Amino acid sequence: MEPTPEKVDIFDTTLRDGEQSPGASMNTEQKLRVARQLATLGVDIIEAGFPIASPGDFEAVSRIAAEVDGPQIAGLARARAQDIERAWEAVRGSARPRIHTFLATSDLHLEHKLKMSRAEALARAVEMVALAASFTDNVEFSPEDAARSNVDYLCEVVEAVIEAGARVVNIPDTVGYTTPEEFHKLIRTLKERVPNIEDATISVHCHNDLGLAVANSLAAVRAGARQVECTINGLGERAGNASLEEVVMALRTRHDVLPFTTDIRTEQIYRTSRLVAEMSGMMVQANKAIVGANAFAHEAGIHQDGILKHAATYEIMTPESIGLPKSDIVLGKHSGRHAFADKVAKVGHDLDETHLEDACSRFIALCDKKKYVFDEDVEAVVNEIVHRPSDYYVLHFVETHAGSELHPRATVRVAVEGEEREATAEGDGPVDAALRAIKEAVGTDTVLEAYVVKAITGGTDAQGEVTVKIAEPHPPDQMPARVISGQGANTDIIIASANAYVNALNRMESWKRHRAHAPSPTRPLGTTP
Ligand code: KIV
Ligand code: ZN
Repeated sequence: MEPTPEKVDIFDTTLRDGEQSPGASMNTEQKLRVARQLATLGVDIIEAGFPIASPGDFEAVSRIAAEVDGPQIAGLARARAQDIERAWEAVRGSARPRIHTFLATSDLHLEHKLKMSRAEALARAVEMVALAASFTDNVEFSPEDAARSNVDYLCEVVEAVIEAGARVVNIPDTVGYTTPEEFHKLIRTLKERVPNIEDATISVHCHNDLGLAVANSLAAVRAGARQVECTINGLGERAGNASLEEVVMALRTRHDVLPFTTDIRTEQIYRTSRLVAEMSGMMVQANKAIVGANAFAHEAGIHQDGILKHAATYEIMTPESIGLPKSDIVLGKHSGRHAFADKVAKVGHDLDETHLEDACSRFIALCDKKKYVFDEDVEAVVNEIVHRPSDYYVLHFVETHAGSELHPRATVRVAVEGEEREATAEGDGPVDAALRAIKEAVGTDTVLEAYVVKAITGGTDAQGEVTVKIAEPHPPDQMPARVISGQGANTDIIIASANAYVNALNRMESWKRHRAHAPSPTRPLGTTP
């Protein structure tokens, strides 16, 4: 009889490490939606945030702990008593809480960042793991920058924290420096040299600076790691973390050489990826493995011919296995409200009456402009309504004048907390003019950091989906404190752009008001986990 394949726990850190990537910040409601979807996806652990970082982070972690059933809910804490107490306060409402505490162990971090000796760091790690273990037996410890730490010292720390009560030891490649062979060897060394290693689960947490995060994670699994930390769409600090969908689909598709299982419901992957992209404002590149728009598209004639004859000629996994919806033509303007409501439910949304009414009117307007309406169009219409932040600003009207012989000019009318304002501006093109006019009407000094447009489906009548990123003014040689994104979709690219911009301004306003009530700095000092 074949031996039962071993299970690998999937620890999702989209809401913590993922949310730390510039421009990916989410508010509590958005984080809750993602957390619920992660539970549906079947992740074992959700790292919901860094509770001491800000009151907003604390609130989000507490609500996820209280409201999301199924996965364990982890809160991150530096190896400091205050952090650990705060993390415990935030996660204790979960049926399955976890405290995840970390302290760097590489000489580089100890000397330059923490200004601690190895002995001091070891003592601190043990003391803080013991403190966390006094709250819960579900404690995880991460020796930050483990991949660049002295191996003998790392073994010593791992043994000591397990002795102090850590049930999971997570080995991070914090700066994405290691290679698969090297990382495999490191995990094997820990298994061979740490006497009490069987009392804990070995976890890995790989960053993607050299594009090796998934390969390194899989190498670690082959060496004995049984928890992988990863994020949807590979979001995360700098080049991101190991992508959940790539790790999971590699384990599933190459089960012959990677005989491990996960509890992930892979048919939920696509939906989760879309939701995270929408909530975080971080678009997925078209050629991204598994969830990119081209991941299952076959352009070359010879490939299309092969696919039609036998899908396996060019497809190593089926689109259905990740829940990729077929781009069926779904509805027309004569389909009626009932059919529309049905379709909304099928694409996974549960709208109340008012939202449904609003979505239906937008859908009918879209049918007037667009010959074929696809699932993706229905999703875009619904998303515009569902993900709308509080309406401090409401765009009522945009008009542009542009052409090869005209200087682009735009007039807009925006309600600013109920007060109607109109402004006209010129720009390099009609989009630029429209955004300038909105900026003037609203009276904001925010700066535009990025502007991306993509077609949702094919055809010249396709809806354009625009993502903009804005920030408060900052010196050109410095990173902005917070980058906020906004989305808009319309068959008219100028209106989509104006909507995206107003959406971002609303989010910015909501963040500013939240920050005004926050008593502490947004990130704790001296750490970039
Ligand atoms: O990259 C890292 O080292 C981390 C730790 C907090 C696990 O994010
Ligand atoms: Zn990390």
